[in-house]
Amino acid sequence: MANQIAAGEVIERPASIVKELVENALDAGARRIDVSVREGGREEIIVQDDGSGMARADAERACLRHATSKLREIDEIERIASYGFRGEALASISSISKTTIETCENRAAEGTCIRVQQGKVLEVLPAGVPEGTKITVRELFASVPARRKFLRTAQTELAHISDWLLRAALARPEVAFSLTHGAREVFRHPAVADPGERLRQVQGATRAGEMLACSGEAHGIRVTGWVSRAGKSYPQSKAILSYVGGRVVRDRVLTRAVLDAYRALLPQGRYPAAVLFLELPPGEVDVNVHPGKVEVRFANGDQVYSAVLRTIRQALEDGIQAPAALETRGDVASTQESSPSMVRGASGGSEVSARVEESLARYAARPGSRETRSYTIRSTEQATDRRDRAGVSVPGGSDRQDAMEFAAKGDAEPSSDGRPAGLPRFA
Ligand SMILES: Nc1ncnc2c1ncn2[C@@H]1O[C@H](COP(=O)(O)OP(=O)(O)O)[C@@H](O)[C@H]1O
Ligand SMILES: [Mg+2]
Repeated sequence: MANQIAAGEVIERPASIVKELVENALDAGARRIDVSVREGGREEIIVQDDGSGMARADAERACLRHATSKLREIDEIERIASYGFRGEALASISSISKTTIETCENRAAEGTCIRVQQGKVLEVLPAGVPEGTKITVRELFASVPARRKFLRTAQTELAHISDWLLRAALARPEVAFSLTHGAREVFRHPAVADPGERLRQVQGATRAGEMLACSGEAHGIRVTGWVSRAGKSYPQSKAILSYVGGRVVRDRVLTRAVLDAYRALLPQGRYPAAVLFLELPPGEVDVNVHPGKVEVRFANGDQVYSAVLRTIRQALEDGIQAPAALETRGDVASTQESSPSMVRGASGGSEVSARVEESLARYAARPGSRETRSYTIRSTEQATDRRDRAGVSVPGGSDRQDAMEFAAKGDAEPSSDGRPAGLPRFA
């Protein structure tokens, strides 16, 4: 029962299951992840990886609540590198479905097959299975009809799955990803060394060709990725994808910074596209604010805003002279060595700085910024658990409630063309 309650928090829909299983596969060092679903995942979800696999005893424990092999000391939660660390996902998933785990450790003589139904282990058998792990989840929410009723059409659930998987694929070009729906292959992206190649696989050559590589660092915050050229615009803001520490996140500070970077460059009602990867020093970001872990809290949102804004501005400025071909992140890394400071005074940089300063000033003076700070101090003082202590501020947003509403809006239907989508219109 406790697991079913927890499941409601973590598992909203088939895409949440795919997310948890794929993150586990990535944590296990998989180089190939194949996802196969039936009926939008309502009938069946299979995630197969070629990662480390599990020893039999570990596999038996994996479905217990708080069974995690990834967290050794409590302090580690602050600087955790793996996606998982709560040990809740498999417990939750297996409590609301029929789950089968087939797993074999590397070079082990034999593997294991475990069947779990509504949280009860039915059988544990030796099995001749390939190295790695294959998890099959059937009859999702069969025991929780109220939840099952909320699932949308197979097509919609599939779009959510595809959407999330493509976002994950963008961050991990060295891993091969595929998605199959029934008998139809939705996509198959082989592993590639060049992140720009993965962008082309995921977004298509045309769309990728409309992007400029960007790279910058400020206040210890590193920003890399791609942004759309100044002359390009899109009808919705959901083409703005952001990642923190390799995790897909949704965050209003990041979205605001992207939109402000294009201020006055795009026609009214049109939006830029962006794929942005942020790396922050440990302690500067809390990814632990929500079990789904798509929200983050920055200790210093103003610095994040400024780093993103400056990086994009610089890329747009450089892009005016650049050829139309896609520049990869690799190219930029070498460019960057010769000019480590991203805010350069020369070569048109003064216009960049002027615009940047203007946006920063406007951002600092935004309504609610003072209230946000005083709220922050209060909540820091009152914090009783470490999550609140680490989560310091959500600049521009009034508070957590705001962030929740924002996330809820982001749950709108994804794009029908299977491209990454999901970010809400910035109000
Ligand atoms: N695909 C996989 N390959 C290897 N080990 C796995 C895999 N999936 C789950 N596990 C093991 O099961 C444990 C529980 O998984 P999960 O419930 O997602 O918790 P968490 O990821 O937070 O540790 C993991 O810590 C890991 O040891
Ligand atoms: Mg996990």
